[in-house]
Amino acid sequence: MIKTTNTSPRQAQASGAVLAAESIPQKQELDVMVHARNVVKTYRTGDITVEALRGVDLDIRSGEFVVIMGPSGHGKSTLLNCLSGIDSIDSGTVRIDGQQIHELKDRARTAHRAKRMGFVFQSFNLIPVLSAAENVELPLLAAGAKPAVARERAAALLARVGLSQRGQHRPAELSGGEQQRVAIARSLVTDPAVVWADEPTGNLDSATAASVLDLFRAVNAGGQTFVIVTHDPEIGANADRMIEVHDGLIRQHEPSRPQDGVAQATSLPIQDGMAY
Ligand SMILES: Nc1ncnc2c1ncn2[C@@H]1O[C@H](COP(=O)(O)OP(=O)(O)OP(=O)(O)O)[C@@H](O)[C@H]1O
Ligand SMILES: [Mg+2]
Repeated sequence: MIKTTNTSPRQAQASGAVLAAESIPQKQELDVMVHARNVVKTYRTGDITVEALRGVDLDIRSGEFVVIMGPSGHGKSTLLNCLSGIDSIDSGTVRIDGQQIHELKDRARTAHRAKRMGFVFQSFNLIPVLSAAENVELPLLAAGAKPAVARERAAALLARVGLSQRGQHRPAELSGGEQQRVAIARSLVTDPAVVWADEPTGNLDSATAASVLDLFRAVNAGGQTFVIVTHDPEIGANADRMIEVHDGLIRQHEPSRPQDGVAQATSLPIQDGMAY
């Protein structure tokens, strides 16, 4: 369990001098997609304070396929949300693609996310009044794509996750696994530089989960960075690196798979259209 206290939260450990130095990207850091230092996040509910992240340091290289594992309630979703800028942090620093994400104003942070990131949320976060196809199209339309282009790309991605017959269904008319696959299609539709996926196969049978892993690895072979929270050992075994989150801290930080460069795209049982 995450450490829960009713005392005031820890103070930030990073000194101003460290933060100032880190705001200037160094040459050797140019291929770093995610750079996080001493990230602290506490949730306060009434008198209860939960130290969800207790000073996380993490670097993820551009193009890396990283898996985050760890027990329930230990801070995995919080880490993803804080690294991606969806949630605020109490202290520390997070740079994505050279951009100090938490120093951006809300609008700029949202725009940066829309342009550079894709998300698969643990609870999908599909828009209930939109069809599956419209949900997938939305990030592209928000990014300024022409409707016809968005429609075509969304249809191709829905086909890629085996849902070409479900585009007109609303989320409530889809099974949990189908909703999850819509969320996966949506996360990839803008060709984002980094994809954050929180338990993306949690609702899928093993064959469909393997297909999603193949899809992610195929996209990753094109250079996109993946950060995936999962309990699925199969995904862990296929990662470039496995990170364990324990009690709001990163406990392990070791390669789980040889750095053999480009992943091979394999044929997908659920594929019915799109090529990556
Ligand atoms: N919005 C919130 N308000 C208060 N506490 C929260 C909030 N979100 C998360 N927490 C607490 O922070 C801790 C970490 O939660 P988090 O969702 O990051 O865990 P997790 O590792 O993703 O767990 P799971 O594997 O069950 O998804 C938990 O103790 C949780 O109760
Ligand atoms: Mg979670």
